[in-house]
Amino acid sequence: MLKDEDRIFTNIYGMKDRSLRGAQARGHWDGTAGLIERGRDWIIEEMKSSGLRGRGGAGFPTGLKWSFMPKESDGRPAYLVVNADESEPGTCKDREIMRHDPHTLIEGCLIASFAMNAHACYIYIRGEYIREREALQIAIDEAYDAGLVGPNAAGSGWDFDLYLVHGAGAYICGEETALLESLEGKKGMPRMKPPFPAGAGLYGCPTTVNNVESIAVVPTILRRGGSWFAGFGRPNNAGTKLFAISGHVNNPCVVEEEMSIPFRELIDKHCGGIRGGWENLKAVIPGGSSVPLLPASTMDEAIMDFDWLREHQSGLGTAAVIVMDQSTDIIKAIWRLSAFYKHESCGQCTPCREGAGWMMRVMDRLVKGDAAVEEIDMLLEVTKQVEGHTICALGDAAAWPIQGLIRHFRDEIEDRIRTKRVPVAAE
Ligand code: NAI
Ligand code: SF4
Repeated sequence: MLKDEDRIFTNIYGMKDRSLRGAQARGHWDGTAGLIERGRDWIIEEMKSSGLRGRGGAGFPTGLKWSFMPKESDGRPAYLVVNADESEPGTCKDREIMRHDPHTLIEGCLIASFAMNAHACYIYIRGEYIREREALQIAIDEAYDAGLVGPNAAGSGWDFDLYLVHGAGAYICGEETALLESLEGKKGMPRMKPPFPAGAGLYGCPTTVNNVESIAVVPTILRRGGSWFAGFGRPNNAGTKLFAISGHVNNPCVVEEEMSIPFRELIDKHCGGIRGGWENLKAVIPGGSSVPLLPASTMDEAIMDFDWLREHQSGLGTAAVIVMDQSTDIIKAIWRLSAFYKHESCGQCTPCREGAGWMMRVMDRLVKGDAAVEEIDMLLEVTKQVEGHTICALGDAAAWPIQGLIRHFRDEIEDRIRTKRVPVAAE
């Protein structure tokens, strides 16, 4: 169980002064130049030993990703790009960092950019985050005024510029290569990978794209040591983590907790339990809408980390925990996600463009029970044709929630088809 003094985000609820003065009083920007003086290799090794896995959803090891950047410049500039296009349904953790604790992100940008040999960093923030953009821009301006960003940033000898770029509200621009396209002023459509951004990223130059939370934890990890961070959670699932819990709990919240916390403990400790009690729990989407749901029986013993959830055919994703109680029309809930993915598909590759529409239309009929039982297997087959056959992960994200629904709630779908009884809330 995480103690208060182990929390990295000291103002996640906005109760304290978020200005530079307040942030410094809470320990941010303390000895930043000293960390940079220790050099790139030390920073990257420390990040590797921390065991930090990317907090944007995929969980790729951060230190390893940084090590893919060229050690010496080949004449091309290098870039750090921070993915603040937080758009995964259920996910609202980076928002709290940007509006309440922005200086830990800015300090992280400087240190990570130095480690990446980058003199410029772009933060790409989602179109709907207007207040967050304003709060972050104020903090960036403060950092410039105080000499923490700009020439000889924080007295480190490193020249560093930080730009905040506002997206226009497309979910797909959170996919890292679509984000790079959008930054370049083009339509946000994912690129084929490889090459990965470290080889050819922004303007064809070496680039690392990291999530807001991944960068915001960097200064504290370096100050306290990689082994400190690695001491939380289970092996391969290290650290503290922001969980965003929504839906049918008594107190929805964003909270920093130890990775690998049991689901029951997370909900009882921070959310006041499930609405109507634990026996009222029906299902949980544990990691944002892209991962398959799990039924209450599985969640009873669930450990909230990458490996446990993957072993149980789901995922930690963005750690956006969507809780659904017995009142939920589970078929309609997943239909809603199908409609979302169909709407957000960029249309570039056929399995996603056509498949997302197919899946949504079948789901549309399943909600009303207006289908044949055999169509359940046909729908499953369509999800398998989409999964793994697309340029980016949006195709998988459209397929997986439906697979989870059929895996765990086939009886309910069959019952809907047989009886045509639609719950009142679903009409
Ligand atoms: P991915 O697994 O393809 O890549 C993850 C990261 O690791 C990327 O930065 C990629 O460049 C890097 N990487 C992977 N393999 C590599 C290799 N062999 N060499 C070098 N670098 C490599 O996953 P992706 O498509 O970036 O992210 C998918 C996840 O994003 C989903 O699981 C979902 O949870 C999450 N997501 C988050 C959203 C949010 O609002 N935060 C929105 C939508 C999805
Ligand atoms: Fe576009 Fe979908 Fe293909 Fe991704 S999978 S590139 S969103 S069409």
